[in-house]
Amino acid sequence: MIDRFTAIVANKHDGGSIAAPRELCLADLPDDDVLVEVAYSTLNYKDGLALTGASPICRFFPMVCGIDLAGTVVESKNQQFHAGDKVIVNGFGLSESHWGGYSQKMRVRAEWLVRKPDEFTLEQTMAIGTAGYTAMLCVQSLLEHGTQPGDGPVIVTGASGGVGSVAVMLLSRMGFDVVAATGRAKENESFLKALGARKLVERDELNRKSKALESERWAGGVDCVGGDMLATVIAQTRYGGAVTACGLAGSPKLSTTMMPFILRGVQLRGIDSVMAPLEARQRAWEKLGKTVNLDLLASIYRVEPMSNVVDLGGELLAGKVRGRIVIDVNA
Ligand SMILES: NC(=O)c1ccc[n+]([C@@H]2O[C@H](COP(=O)([O-])OP(=O)(O)OC[C@H]3O[C@@H](n4cnc5c(N)ncnc54)[C@H](OP(=O)(O)O)[C@@H]3O)[C@@H](O)[C@H]2O)c1
Repeated sequence: MIDRFTAIVANKHDGGSIAAPRELCLADLPDDDVLVEVAYSTLNYKDGLALTGASPICRFFPMVCGIDLAGTVVESKNQQFHAGDKVIVNGFGLSESHWGGYSQKMRVRAEWLVRKPDEFTLEQTMAIGTAGYTAMLCVQSLLEHGTQPGDGPVIVTGASGGVGSVAVMLLSRMGFDVVAATGRAKENESFLKALGARKLVERDELNRKSKALESERWAGGVDCVGGDMLATVIAQTRYGGAVTACGLAGSPKLSTTMMPFILRGVQLRGIDSVMAPLEARQRAWEKLGKTVNLDLLASIYRVEPMSNVVDLGGELLAGKVRGRIVIDVNA
């Protein structure tokens, strides 16, 4: 086995942090029980923050970035996994409190591993990645609430992004009437309609100070943006509807009133993908395997070499990335 390999490592810099390629060897890796030869990782919003140092994501340094990985088990001290098994890790503190997926080799804990669903290649699992698996957690939360196709329009905010574009694709595949809210309507109209959005709403129509209650428009919502956008979606949600809150691409703040909750029985459902229990992950990945149309999936991602990932992190935070980016850690 080649002992030396490349990783993208964040280090302290000028009161913040900065990420750059670095050569590592097996002895540098954490002492966890499963050694994985990583094939692909992804680029998510949190990766953008860690790569650029825009927000203190990494809890210690040096930190190998990358919140996702997909690869093949090389060695395992855990009896449930063997050399040759194809596995995925999403979150569980990768790039925050544990070294992450921007590395050609990584040791991880067996209890974080999800087996690759048969329906996908390793590349396709990372086209979905944390963003897509979070989109599925949002959709499952709406279904658990009782929201059904046929109930009326469901809004997805930040629709051109990773979570948003997969949420549009999944909801539409399940028969929901999907409305996509985006700040890039002109540029991304055909992209979002091809994923199944029936209609687009301009970001500014929702990203404003809302009244306590507004006209009832949405049977449900998947919000990736937070702030005023989320407050307006809540104020426009129909009696008995639910909104899942997973993101803060616009703002981590939320200023709303009690009115939608006590007069319309609206539910706000928080979604966490990072520490979600393994059982919930397996359910989400099984459902992804049954729901994702591979041709549509191919239309929402591109593969980039790991050597480009630091620059791409800045582009993602600037809202310039559409859909998903898969990172080939061996290129
Ligand atoms: N809860 C969890 O477990 C979990 C998991 C994954 C991600 N997240 C969070 O979910 C959010 C989306 O993640 P992502 O990976 O999909 O990121 P992304 O690819 O960067 O997508 C975010 C989208 O939000 C919109 N947006 C960006 N800046 C905005 C602003 N200032 N105001 C309003 N809209 C804005 C843009 O869509 P348009 O151009 O279409 O408007 C952008 O494409 C992030 O906050 C991320 O941290 C949470």
